[in-house]
Amino acid sequence: MHLQISKHVQYVGSIDWDRRIFDQLISIPYGTTYNSYLLQGSEKTAIIDSVDPTKQADLENHLSDISHIDYIICQHAEQDHSGSIPYLLEKYPDAKVVTNEKCKGLLMDLLPIPEEAFLVIQDQETLSLGNITLHFLLTPWVHWPETMVTYYEEEGILFSCDFFGAHVATSDLFTNSPHSYTNPAKHYFAEIMMPFRTIIQKNLAKIAPLDIRIIAPSHGPIYKDPQPIIQSYEEWTSNQTKPMVIIAYVSMHDSTKQMVEYVTNRLMANNIAVKVYNLPKSDIGELATDLVDASSLILASPTVLAGAHPEAVYAAFLANALRPKLKTISIIGSFGWGGKMVEQIQSLLPNLKADIIEPVLVKGTPKEEDFKKLDALVQAFTDKNR
Ligand code: FEO
Repeated sequence: MHLQISKHVQYVGSIDWDRRIFDQLISIPYGTTYNSYLLQGSEKTAIIDSVDPTKQADLENHLSDISHIDYIICQHAEQDHSGSIPYLLEKYPDAKVVTNEKCKGLLMDLLPIPEEAFLVIQDQETLSLGNITLHFLLTPWVHWPETMVTYYEEEGILFSCDFFGAHVATSDLFTNSPHSYTNPAKHYFAEIMMPFRTIIQKNLAKIAPLDIRIIAPSHGPIYKDPQPIIQSYEEWTSNQTKPMVIIAYVSMHDSTKQMVEYVTNRLMANNIAVKVYNLPKSDIGELATDLVDASSLILASPTVLAGAHPEAVYAAFLANALRPKLKTISIIGSFGWGGKMVEQIQSLLPNLKADIIEPVLVKGTPKEEDFKKLDALVQAFTDKNR
């Protein structure tokens, strides 16, 4: 079965309803798709990206009546895009793997593809399929150094690779409404794109001159109206934040929890938006999604084995790695007989360029003087979010 996207473009990808984790690292609660596109021009045939090797059978079915492919365009060396290229080369031995020099190197490191199979293209180069002109634009660090996109000039289709993608398994080939998939797309941006926010701004500027009528990413549905997702990327990559305090905490014997509840209630009484994550019960991907545009973060942890609880350590490590545009942060928590919890958490956050509100560390359960310190912390976060 072929799914027609336009007169010359068919969907030959795969839906992965079951997958819940990517790279053994990031959560994908909605599953995903591996989008692959077949372009049949008047003179040549090309396929853009292959599917994850676990779903190669779907690709084989889609291509069962396709006897010849001239070009296998590889936009990204990660396996979910490239892993079925060896199969494609076996079926179409005369096909050329079209990609940039950096991607070629990575593909040869990762897969058994002979050097003579490659056709290396440069930034802004075009490739003709007869009545189809493909225009390649290198978009480094969206999200690997070799990532690129392909613009089908005559129909205004941008094959955007991971750019604008969403890990969501859906039978919708196209988005039904502009905002139907904003949350999966934001979740995807949070976990994959956020560390490269600044360079993504440059790549948004690079594609801005194109007359983009359709965005066909490598994951999730195709955007018939590209403007909402482009606008979302402009917002997510900008320096603007939304006034919201995220409180990510773990508590062993409820002292830290009492502090969190106190701070939460006081902030809410001041009409400040708050989102609380009890870390052992939370999806860290949801926390990452809120970090895309939240203004403030409070990490709260007890002291265990002289340092922070491992759940708080992991949340701090992740927040630091994702480089969110937080403006204000702090640390609160408790201890029994000593330790360096606050110093340890702070040392894990060198990438965050946020103001630090005076941390509050209490011995045992919070007492009257501790609540006064928390009042000062609440006031500082309130002032920063008004
Ligand atoms: Fe869709 Fe970076 O893999």
